[in-house]
Amino acid sequence: MQKTKVFIDCDPGIDDALALLLALCHPNVSVVGIGVNCGNVPVELGVKNVLHILELTGQVHVPVYAGAEKPLCRDFVSAQDTHGENGLGEIIFAQPIIKPQKMSASEAILLHAKADTTLLTLAPLTNVALALQKNPKVLQAYGKVISMGGAFRTHGNCSQVAEYNYWCDPEAAEYVYANAGRVIDMVGLDVTRAFVLHATARAQLKNINNPLAQFAYDITGFYQDFHQKQENLNGCVLNDVLAVGYLIDETLCAGFLSHVDIVCQGKAMGQSLVDVGGFYKQSPNALILQEVRVDDAMQLFWQTCFNTDYKMLKI
Ligand code: RIB
Ligand code: CA
Repeated sequence: MQKTKVFIDCDPGIDDALALLLALCHPNVSVVGIGVNCGNVPVELGVKNVLHILELTGQVHVPVYAGAEKPLCRDFVSAQDTHGENGLGEIIFAQPIIKPQKMSASEAILLHAKADTTLLTLAPLTNVALALQKNPKVLQAYGKVISMGGAFRTHGNCSQVAEYNYWCDPEAAEYVYANAGRVIDMVGLDVTRAFVLHATARAQLKNINNPLAQFAYDITGFYQDFHQKQENLNGCVLNDVLAVGYLIDETLCAGFLSHVDIVCQGKAMGQSLVDVGGFYKQSPNALILQEVRVDDAMQLFWQTCFNTDYKMLKI
């Protein structure tokens, strides 16, 4: 079976880290490169975390590219309150041995733009916007573009209406959706909010004799505590893991085509405005995912990364 080739732009971050595990471990996925954007943590910490994950999974050949240190035109606001100061739940790891490439993430997005490759974004879209400014056709050169971000019918996680990736750099998100020249599959909070690692499931990770299960257990403690305090959720939302699951099996989610604008000013800054009524008669630039097969997606994650039948767990 032909492997799915993917370039991932991320900001690890705990859910990014678990998403990278899924992409790096799945037999039908070939990660051609990993870009890092400022986001959950400053870019240098994100790069360090990616390098650690590559060493943990043995995939030390995958090239890593450092990207934007700040949004296009506003101050950088991290999400270290959610992911920990170091981005991996305050768990301390040895300094990675492997090093990133000299090329920037935006240049790498240009380099890897091929019809047999998917661009998957799990972070603010600064690197992608910079690549698009250099080559207006770059996103059309990818076979598919999938972006974890946005929210349509559900509330935001940074304000009443805004999701973090598009809120952190709204100008970048607006520029990407306005100039992509293609449909972007938007894996928003409408579907990711349902994709929860419940506390009872997380507790069972501890009993799995597998270094990746131990890693997942260790780094999600801080994240689960944050969700408990912030949303009274007895678990944690694995936004980016679902985006990788959708990369692997697009039948896991379903949605509708529409036009999306990103709000850049005022109280609704970062909101993904979905013109579901077609008021402005603009051609669709996004596939807005609304339904998700949660248990099947979680089974894919657990089987691939932890060699464990999720549906057999006592949740
Ligand atoms: O809003 C959730 C998204 O923002 C996820 O990608 C998370 O890692 C953060 O980047
Ligand atoms: Ca992310």
